[in-house]
Amino acid sequence: YRPAASRSVHPFQTQERSNMKVSIVGCGFVGSTAAYALVMQGIGREIVLVDQQKERAIAEANDITHAVPFSHPLTVRAGDYADLADSRVVIIAAGVGQKPGENRLHLLQRNADVFRDCIPQIIQNAPDAILLVATNPVDIMTHVAGEIAMQMGVPISRVIGSGTTLDTARFRSLVGKQFGVDSRHVHAHVIGEHGDSEVLTWSLATIAGLSLTEFSEVRGIGLDAGQRASIDEQVRRAAYQIIEGKGATYYGIGSALARIVDVLLHDQRSILTVCSRIEDVAGVSDVTISMPHLLGGKGVLASIPLMLNDSEHQLLNASANIIRDAIDSMEM
Ligand code: 2OP
Repeated sequence: YRPAASRSVHPFQTQERSNMKVSIVGCGFVGSTAAYALVMQGIGREIVLVDQQKERAIAEANDITHAVPFSHPLTVRAGDYADLADSRVVIIAAGVGQKPGENRLHLLQRNADVFRDCIPQIIQNAPDAILLVATNPVDIMTHVAGEIAMQMGVPISRVIGSGTTLDTARFRSLVGKQFGVDSRHVHAHVIGEHGDSEVLTWSLATIAGLSLTEFSEVRGIGLDAGQRASIDEQVRRAAYQIIEGKGATYYGIGSALARIVDVLLHDQRSILTVCSRIEDVAGVSDVTISMPHLLGGKGVLASIPLMLNDSEHQLLNASANIIRDAIDSMEM
């Protein structure tokens, strides 16, 4: 037996490794579950967890590291803001979540204060990273992060929020279930606020290139007004029902965040309903809101307008106004 010549550099310490670094600021349920989803799917090579309670970040990093031998060879460690250096993506999940009975807008002031403290520190330490905001109310928190980022010279295309990516997944899964079709073959979007005023774009939903009305005729499976209303309600109320039952939502959003990171790290050019700052949405100017966005390695490449019908257009206008009013109600 002749051992291979030892190398001075650990095989993982390559350029690729530093290019696949993802950091997570805020290690509550959402941040930690995002880290776990990244490890389970083998997305990235190095994950750094930062939390104002360092003990929490260390404990989560250790716990998730113990899943590595059962999944993919990533390193997961706790760190401080200085450890964000060279991150390609920083997920921001810091702040408080909803309690039963609260809606997402109730969190506004508390979480805006958290952001005014942590976003500048993130940008100072990782000026080239894409910021991926998950904290609620996510549209407004992404707007706050975008304001600070622009003041610090970061292009707004590098500031993204998870937006309605999860709501779109909820919508697709319910439509897929209704028709007995793999939800990955349902094309349908939830746009607008990630919250009570979000808009399910029924008129544009397709399966195999057919409208839902056509598909339901082909398959002989009905989708009447009552069934649509029930799906709408289930998508819109999903978080409330889950929070009522277990106090928080995290598997869905953690998986959505992992998917977005995968697209960003590998320049996949996927279209996801993340939120970003848009000049004009349904007649409302300068608002951070979810629309289908083309995403790649540099962040948001384009925001895709939809050919909505009149009632969807009106609902989107109302939703954009709710976000705009909430932004205006804050001292920036
Ligand atoms: C969700 O929709 C609470 O925004 C979180 O699951």
